Amino acid sequence: MPKQFINPTKLPSDSTLTKTDLDTPFLAVDLEKFDSNVARLSQGTKDFDVHWRPHCKGHKSSIIASRLVAAGAIGATCAKLGEAEIMVRGGVPDVLIANLIVGENKLSRLAKLCKEGKPIVCIDHMDQAVPMNEVMLREGVQCRVIIEVNIGLDRVGCAPDKTLELARQLHAMPGLNFAGIMGYEGHLLTIEDQNEKRSEIENALKLLAENAKQLQEEGIPCEIVSCGGTGSYLLSRMQKGITELQAGGGMFMDQFYEQQCQVTGMKKALTIIATVVGRPTADRAIIDSGKKTLHVEYEPAIVVGRDDIQVTRLSAEHGELELTGDAQDLKIGDRVELVPGYADMTCVLHDFFYVFQNDTLVDIWPLEARGLLQ
Ligand SMILES: Cc1ncc(COP(=O)(O)O)c(C=O)c1O
Repeated sequence: MPKQFINPTKLPSDSTLTKTDLDTPFLAVDLEKFDSNVARLSQGTKDFDVHWRPHCKGHKSSIIASRLVAAGAIGATCAKLGEAEIMVRGGVPDVLIANLIVGENKLSRLAKLCKEGKPIVCIDHMDQAVPMNEVMLREGVQCRVIIEVNIGLDRVGCAPDKTLELARQLHAMPGLNFAGIMGYEGHLLTIEDQNEKRSEIENALKLLAENAKQLQEEGIPCEIVSCGGTGSYLLSRMQKGITELQAGGGMFMDQFYEQQCQVTGMKKALTIIATVVGRPTADRAIIDSGKKTLHVEYEPAIVVGRDDIQVTRLSAEHGELELTGDAQDLKIGDRVELVPGYADMTCVLHDFFYVFQNDTLVDIWPLEARGLLQ
Protein backbone atom coordinates (compact mmCIF):
# COMPACT_ATOMS: atom_id res chain seq x y z
CA MET A 1 0.00 0.00 0.00
CA PRO A 2 1.51 3.35 -0.96
CA LYS A 3 1.91 5.76 1.91
CA GLN A 4 -0.94 8.26 2.29
CA PHE A 5 0.25 11.77 3.01
CA ILE A 6 -1.94 14.20 4.93
CA ASN A 7 -0.45 17.47 3.69
CA PRO A 8 -0.01 18.12 -0.06
CA THR A 9 3.00 16.46 -1.68
CA LYS A 10 2.98 18.73 -4.73
CA LEU A 11 2.21 22.41 -4.89
CA PRO A 12 -1.32 22.89 -6.27
CA SER A 13 -1.09 25.08 -9.41
CA ASP A 14 -3.45 27.69 -7.96
CA SER A 15 -2.04 27.47 -4.43
CA THR A 16 -2.91 30.14 -1.96
CA LEU A 17 -2.13 27.83 0.93
CA THR A 18 -0.59 29.38 4.02
CA LYS A 19 1.10 27.89 7.07
CA THR A 20 -2.20 27.59 8.89
CA ASP A 21 -3.67 25.39 6.13
CA LEU A 22 -1.24 22.53 6.79
CA ASP A 23 -1.58 19.95 9.53
CA THR A 24 1.14 20.04 12.16
CA PRO A 25 3.82 19.15 12.81
CA PHE A 26 5.62 19.93 9.54
CA LEU A 27 9.01 21.10 8.37
CA ALA A 28 9.00 24.65 7.05
CA VAL A 29 11.65 26.46 5.02
CA ASP A 30 11.67 30.25 4.81
CA LEU A 31 12.74 30.75 1.20
CA GLU A 32 14.15 34.23 1.63
CA LYS A 33 16.32 33.21 4.56
CA PHE A 34 17.34 29.98 2.83
CA ASP A 35 18.41 31.83 -0.34
CA SER A 36 20.29 34.39 1.75
CA ASN A 37 22.23 31.60 3.54
CA VAL A 38 22.96 29.87 0.24
CA ALA A 39 24.25 33.10 -1.30
CA ARG A 40 26.42 33.70 1.74
CA LEU A 41 27.95 30.21 1.67
CA SER A 42 28.50 30.39 -2.07
CA GLN A 43 30.07 33.86 -2.01
CA GLY A 44 31.88 33.08 1.24
CA THR A 45 33.80 30.25 -0.44
CA LYS A 46 34.28 32.09 -3.75
CA ASP A 47 35.86 35.01 -1.87
CA PHE A 48 38.64 32.67 -0.80
CA ASP A 49 39.01 30.96 -4.21
CA VAL A 50 37.66 27.71 -2.85
CA HIS A 51 35.02 25.59 -4.58
CA TRP A 52 31.81 24.83 -2.73
CA ARG A 53 30.54 21.24 -2.71
CA PRO A 54 27.76 21.39 -0.08
CA HIS A 55 26.93 18.25 1.85
CA CYS A 56 23.48 16.85 1.04
CA LYS A 57 23.25 14.45 4.00
CA GLY A 58 20.80 16.81 5.71
CA HIS A 59 18.56 17.90 2.86
CA LYS A 60 18.63 14.65 0.83
CA SER A 61 16.88 16.45 -2.02
CA SER A 62 18.01 16.69 -5.64
CA ILE A 63 15.84 19.80 -6.00
CA ILE A 64 17.86 21.54 -3.29
CA ALA A 65 21.17 20.19 -4.67
CA SER A 66 20.29 21.58 -8.13
CA ARG A 67 19.37 24.90 -6.58
CA LEU A 68 22.75 25.02 -4.85
CA VAL A 69 24.54 24.29 -8.13
CA ALA A 70 22.57 27.12 -9.73
CA ALA A 71 23.82 29.32 -6.88
CA GLY A 72 27.48 28.43 -7.52
CA ALA A 73 28.16 24.98 -6.02
CA ILE A 74 30.31 22.67 -8.15
CA GLY A 75 28.30 19.60 -7.17
CA ALA A 76 27.26 17.81 -4.00
CA THR A 77 28.90 15.92 -1.17
CA CYS A 78 27.01 12.79 -0.11
CA ALA A 79 27.29 10.45 2.84
CA LYS A 80 25.77 7.44 1.11
CA LEU A 81 25.83 5.76 -2.29
CA GLY A 82 22.01 5.91 -2.25
CA GLU A 83 22.18 9.69 -1.85
CA ALA A 84 24.66 9.97 -4.70
CA GLU A 85 22.35 7.97 -6.99
CA ILE A 86 19.48 10.35 -6.20
CA MET A 87 21.63 13.45 -6.80
CA VAL A 88 23.12 12.21 -10.09
CA ARG A 89 19.75 11.04 -11.40
CA GLY A 90 18.21 14.31 -10.25
CA GLY A 91 20.64 16.36 -12.35
CA VAL A 92 23.75 16.86 -10.22
CA PRO A 93 26.45 14.68 -11.82
CA ASP A 94 29.52 15.82 -9.87
CA VAL A 95 29.12 14.10 -6.51
CA LEU A 96 31.65 13.29 -3.83
CA ILE A 97 30.67 10.34 -1.65
CA ALA A 98 32.58 11.30 1.48
CA ASN A 99 32.51 7.74 2.67
CA LEU A 100 33.94 4.29 2.08
CA ILE A 101 32.09 1.95 -0.30
CA VAL A 102 32.39 -1.74 0.44
CA GLY A 103 30.68 -4.83 -1.02
CA GLU A 104 30.16 -6.31 -4.48
CA ASN A 105 26.61 -5.06 -4.96
CA LYS A 106 27.47 -1.50 -4.00
CA LEU A 107 30.52 -1.55 -6.26
CA SER A 108 28.33 -2.64 -9.18
CA ARG A 109 25.94 0.23 -8.39
CA LEU A 110 28.92 2.57 -8.24
CA ALA A 111 30.15 1.37 -11.65
CA LYS A 112 26.68 2.05 -13.07
CA LEU A 113 26.73 5.49 -11.51
CA CYS A 114 30.08 6.18 -13.19
CA LYS A 115 28.26 5.78 -16.52
CA GLU A 116 25.58 8.25 -15.50
CA GLY A 117 27.59 10.90 -13.65
CA LYS A 118 31.02 11.70 -12.25
CA PRO A 119 31.09 10.25 -8.74
CA ILE A 120 34.14 10.48 -6.51
CA VAL A 121 34.59 7.99 -3.67
CA CYS A 122 36.84 7.95 -0.60
CA ILE A 123 39.43 5.26 0.03
CA ASP A 124 41.59 4.83 3.12
CA HIS A 125 42.78 1.22 2.68
CA MET A 126 43.82 -1.00 -0.21
CA ASP A 127 41.18 -3.54 0.80
CA GLN A 128 38.55 -1.07 -0.43
CA ALA A 129 40.52 -0.20 -3.55
CA VAL A 130 41.36 -3.67 -4.89
CA PRO A 131 37.76 -4.92 -5.31
CA MET A 132 36.68 -1.48 -6.55
CA ASN A 133 39.36 -1.53 -9.23
CA GLU A 134 38.28 -5.04 -10.30
CA VAL A 135 34.60 -4.13 -10.61
CA MET A 136 35.36 -0.92 -12.52
CA LEU A 137 37.59 -2.81 -14.98
CA ARG A 138 34.95 -5.50 -15.42
CA GLU A 139 32.31 -2.85 -16.11
CA GLY A 140 34.60 -0.88 -18.42
CA VAL A 141 34.61 2.34 -16.39
CA GLN A 142 37.01 4.35 -14.26
CA CYS A 143 35.90 5.72 -10.90
CA ARG A 144 37.38 8.89 -9.45
CA VAL A 145 38.77 8.27 -5.97
CA ILE A 146 40.29 10.44 -3.27
CA ILE A 147 42.07 9.38 -0.11
CA GLU A 148 40.38 10.22 3.15
CA VAL A 149 43.08 11.29 5.59
CA ASN A 150 42.63 11.22 9.36
CA ILE A 151 43.34 14.79 10.40
CA GLY A 152 42.38 14.22 14.03
CA LEU A 153 38.70 13.26 13.98
CA ASP A 154 39.81 9.62 14.47
CA ARG A 155 36.83 8.24 12.57
CA VAL A 156 38.06 6.93 9.24
CA GLY A 157 41.04 8.01 7.18
CA CYS A 158 44.59 6.83 6.72
CA ALA A 159 47.34 8.34 8.85
CA PRO A 160 48.85 11.38 7.08
CA ASP A 161 52.25 9.67 6.87
CA LYS A 162 50.65 6.79 4.94
CA THR A 163 48.90 8.96 2.32
CA LEU A 164 51.73 9.05 -0.19
CA GLU A 165 52.19 5.28 -0.29
CA LEU A 166 48.45 4.70 -0.67
CA ALA A 167 48.25 7.36 -3.39
CA ARG A 168 51.06 5.69 -5.35
CA GLN A 169 49.13 2.44 -5.35
CA LEU A 170 45.78 4.01 -6.23
CA HIS A 171 47.33 6.10 -9.00
CA ALA A 172 48.64 2.91 -10.60
CA MET A 173 45.24 1.14 -10.67
CA PRO A 174 43.65 1.34 -14.13
CA GLY A 175 40.06 1.11 -12.88
CA LEU A 176 40.54 4.12 -10.61
CA ASN A 177 41.19 7.74 -11.45
CA PHE A 178 43.09 9.22 -8.52
CA ALA A 179 41.84 12.76 -7.92
CA GLY A 180 43.04 13.98 -4.53
CA ILE A 181 42.47 13.87 -0.79
CA MET A 182 40.01 14.94 1.89
CA GLY A 183 39.81 15.23 5.67
CA TYR A 184 37.08 16.37 8.01
CA GLU A 185 37.94 18.63 10.95
CA GLY A 186 34.70 17.70 12.71
CA HIS A 187 36.43 17.35 16.09
CA LEU A 188 37.27 21.08 16.12
CA LEU A 189 33.86 22.65 15.47
CA THR A 190 32.93 23.47 19.04
CA ILE A 191 36.18 24.92 20.39
CA GLU A 192 35.00 28.00 22.25
CA ASP A 193 38.05 30.22 22.03
CA GLN A 194 38.14 31.46 18.43
CA ASN A 195 41.92 31.93 18.35
CA GLU A 196 42.41 28.39 19.55
CA LYS A 197 39.83 27.12 17.06
CA ARG A 198 41.60 28.93 14.23
CA SER A 199 44.99 27.52 15.15
CA GLU A 200 43.70 23.95 15.67
CA ILE A 201 41.95 24.06 12.27
CA GLU A 202 45.08 25.48 10.69
CA ASN A 203 47.17 22.63 12.17
CA ALA A 204 44.69 19.96 11.05
CA LEU A 205 44.31 21.28 7.51
CA LYS A 206 48.05 21.79 7.19
CA LEU A 207 48.27 17.98 7.25
CA LEU A 208 46.15 17.93 4.07
CA ALA A 209 48.14 20.71 2.41
CA GLU A 210 51.42 18.92 3.19
CA ASN A 211 50.06 15.63 1.83
CA ALA A 212 48.91 17.37 -1.36
CA LYS A 213 52.38 18.91 -1.81
CA GLN A 214 54.06 15.50 -1.33
CA LEU A 215 51.82 13.96 -3.99
CA GLN A 216 52.43 16.77 -6.46
CA GLU A 217 56.20 16.49 -5.94
CA GLU A 218 55.89 12.79 -6.87
CA GLY A 219 53.95 13.69 -10.00
CA ILE A 220 50.68 12.32 -8.63
CA PRO A 221 47.86 14.71 -9.53
CA CYS A 222 45.98 16.02 -6.53
CA GLU A 223 43.40 18.38 -7.93
CA ILE A 224 40.97 17.95 -5.00
CA VAL A 225 41.82 18.87 -1.41
CA SER A 226 38.44 18.79 0.31
CA CYS A 227 37.38 19.45 3.90
CA GLY A 228 35.11 21.61 5.97
CA GLY A 229 31.67 21.73 7.48
CA THR A 230 29.36 24.57 8.41
CA GLY A 231 30.81 24.61 11.92
CA SER A 232 34.31 25.34 10.61
CA TYR A 233 33.93 26.88 7.15
CA LEU A 234 34.57 30.46 8.25
CA LEU A 235 38.08 29.43 9.27
CA SER A 236 38.73 26.44 6.99
CA ARG A 237 38.13 28.43 3.81
CA MET A 238 41.18 30.59 4.51
CA GLN A 239 43.67 27.74 4.96
CA LYS A 240 46.32 27.30 2.28
CA GLY A 241 46.04 24.39 -0.13
CA ILE A 242 42.32 23.71 0.31
CA THR A 243 40.43 23.48 -2.99
CA GLU A 244 36.88 22.79 -1.87
CA LEU A 245 34.58 22.93 1.15
CA GLN A 246 31.74 20.58 2.07
CA ALA A 247 29.72 22.92 4.32
CA GLY A 248 26.03 22.16 3.80
CA GLY A 249 23.88 22.49 6.89
CA GLY A 250 24.42 26.25 7.05
CA MET A 251 21.82 26.65 4.31
CA PHE A 252 19.23 25.95 7.05
CA MET A 253 21.23 27.11 10.08
CA ASP A 254 20.29 25.89 13.56
CA GLN A 255 20.97 26.28 17.27
CA PHE A 256 23.98 23.94 17.27
CA TYR A 257 25.86 25.91 14.61
CA GLU A 258 25.02 29.20 16.27
CA GLN A 259 25.48 28.37 19.95
CA GLN A 260 28.25 25.77 19.88
CA CYS A 261 30.12 26.42 16.64
CA GLN A 262 29.72 30.22 16.77
CA VAL A 263 28.74 30.44 13.11
CA THR A 264 27.68 34.01 12.35
CA GLY A 265 25.79 35.71 9.55
CA MET A 266 23.26 32.97 8.83
CA LYS A 267 19.51 33.13 9.25
CA LYS A 268 17.33 30.45 10.83
CA ALA A 269 15.64 29.22 7.65
CA LEU A 270 14.33 25.88 8.91
CA THR A 271 11.59 25.55 11.49
CA ILE A 272 9.04 23.08 12.79
CA ILE A 273 5.47 24.29 13.03
CA ALA A 274 3.73 22.68 16.00
CA THR A 275 0.37 22.94 17.74
CA VAL A 276 -0.33 23.30 21.45
CA VAL A 277 -2.41 20.24 22.30
CA GLY A 278 -2.37 20.37 26.09
CA ARG A 279 -2.20 22.93 28.91
CA PRO A 280 -1.68 20.84 32.06
CA THR A 281 -0.69 23.82 34.27
CA ALA A 282 -0.44 27.61 33.96
CA ASP A 283 3.27 27.40 33.26
CA ARG A 284 3.36 24.28 31.06
CA ALA A 285 2.12 23.59 27.53
CA ILE A 286 2.33 20.37 25.55
CA ILE A 287 2.91 20.45 21.79
CA ASP A 288 2.42 17.74 19.17
CA SER A 289 6.15 17.54 18.39
CA GLY A 290 8.65 15.35 20.14
CA LYS A 291 11.86 13.57 19.29
CA LYS A 292 10.32 11.98 16.21
CA THR A 293 9.80 15.47 14.80
CA LEU A 294 12.84 17.47 15.87
CA HIS A 295 16.37 16.73 17.02
CA VAL A 296 17.59 18.40 20.19
CA GLU A 297 20.34 16.14 21.51
CA TYR A 298 23.21 18.52 20.72
CA GLU A 299 21.39 21.72 21.63
CA PRO A 300 17.83 22.55 22.80
CA ALA A 301 15.26 23.85 20.33
CA ILE A 302 13.95 27.40 20.71
CA VAL A 303 10.55 28.93 19.99
CA VAL A 304 10.82 31.67 17.37
CA GLY A 305 10.30 35.16 18.77
CA ARG A 306 9.40 33.94 22.27
CA ASP A 307 11.94 34.48 25.03
CA ASP A 308 9.13 33.65 27.43
CA ILE A 309 8.85 30.04 26.22
CA GLN A 310 11.45 27.34 26.85
CA VAL A 311 11.47 23.86 25.38
CA THR A 312 12.12 21.79 28.47
CA ARG A 313 11.51 18.15 27.57
CA LEU A 314 10.73 16.01 24.55
CA SER A 315 9.40 12.50 24.55
CA ALA A 316 8.77 10.61 21.33
CA GLU A 317 5.66 12.48 20.22
CA HIS A 318 5.14 15.17 22.87
CA GLY A 319 7.06 18.33 23.59
CA GLU A 320 6.91 20.21 26.86
CA LEU A 321 7.15 24.00 26.98
CA GLU A 322 7.75 26.08 30.09
CA LEU A 323 5.82 29.35 29.95
CA THR A 324 6.54 32.61 31.72
CA GLY A 325 4.89 36.05 31.51
CA ASP A 326 2.65 36.63 28.47
CA ALA A 327 3.30 33.10 27.23
CA GLN A 328 0.95 31.83 29.90
CA ASP A 329 -1.86 33.07 27.62
CA LEU A 330 -0.98 30.29 25.18
CA LYS A 331 -4.09 28.22 24.44
CA ILE A 332 -4.83 24.76 23.18
CA GLY A 333 -4.91 25.05 19.38
CA ASP A 334 -2.33 27.85 19.19
CA ARG A 335 0.66 27.22 16.99
CA VAL A 336 4.33 27.75 17.76
CA GLU A 337 7.35 27.75 15.45
CA LEU A 338 10.52 26.05 16.65
CA VAL A 339 14.11 26.17 15.46
CA PRO A 340 15.53 22.67 15.95
CA GLY A 341 18.71 22.03 17.91
CA TYR A 342 20.30 20.28 14.93
CA ALA A 343 18.77 20.74 11.47
CA ASP A 344 20.60 17.82 9.84
CA MET A 345 19.04 15.16 12.09
CA THR A 346 15.68 16.95 12.10
CA CYS A 347 15.23 16.96 8.31
CA VAL A 348 15.60 13.20 8.01
CA LEU A 349 12.58 12.72 10.25
CA HIS A 350 10.39 14.27 7.52
CA ASP A 351 9.31 13.45 3.97
CA PHE A 352 8.91 17.00 2.65
CA PHE A 353 10.17 20.54 3.11
CA TYR A 354 7.25 22.98 2.93
CA VAL A 355 8.68 26.14 1.46
CA PHE A 356 7.19 29.53 2.35
CA GLN A 357 7.58 33.07 1.18
CA ASN A 358 6.23 35.22 3.98
CA ASP A 359 3.33 33.02 4.96
CA THR A 360 2.44 31.56 1.56
CA LEU A 361 3.36 28.05 0.52
CA VAL A 362 5.42 28.45 -2.66
CA ASP A 363 7.05 25.06 -3.08
CA ILE A 364 7.29 21.52 -1.72
CA TRP A 365 10.66 19.75 -1.84
CA PRO A 366 10.70 16.00 -1.20
CA LEU A 367 13.60 14.45 0.71
CA GLU A 368 13.99 11.81 -1.99
CA ALA A 369 17.04 10.17 -0.45
CA ARG A 370 15.47 9.88 2.97
CA GLY A 371 15.77 6.29 4.17
CA LEU A 372 18.20 5.37 1.40
CA LEU A 373 20.87 4.32 3.84
CA GLN A 374 22.46 1.67 1.65
C1 LIG B 1 32.53 14.30 5.85
C2 LIG B 1 31.75 15.46 6.36
N1 LIG B 1 31.90 16.65 5.77
C3 LIG B 1 31.23 17.74 6.19
C4 LIG B 1 30.37 17.66 7.25
C5 LIG B 1 29.66 18.91 7.72
O1 LIG B 1 28.42 19.04 7.21
P1 LIG B 1 27.52 20.30 7.58
O2 LIG B 1 28.08 21.47 6.88
O3 LIG B 1 26.18 19.93 7.05
O4 LIG B 1 27.55 20.47 9.07
C6 LIG B 1 30.18 16.44 7.91
C7 LIG B 1 29.26 16.35 9.06
O5 LIG B 1 29.00 15.36 9.66
C8 LIG B 1 30.89 15.31 7.45
O6 LIG B 1 30.75 14.12 8.07
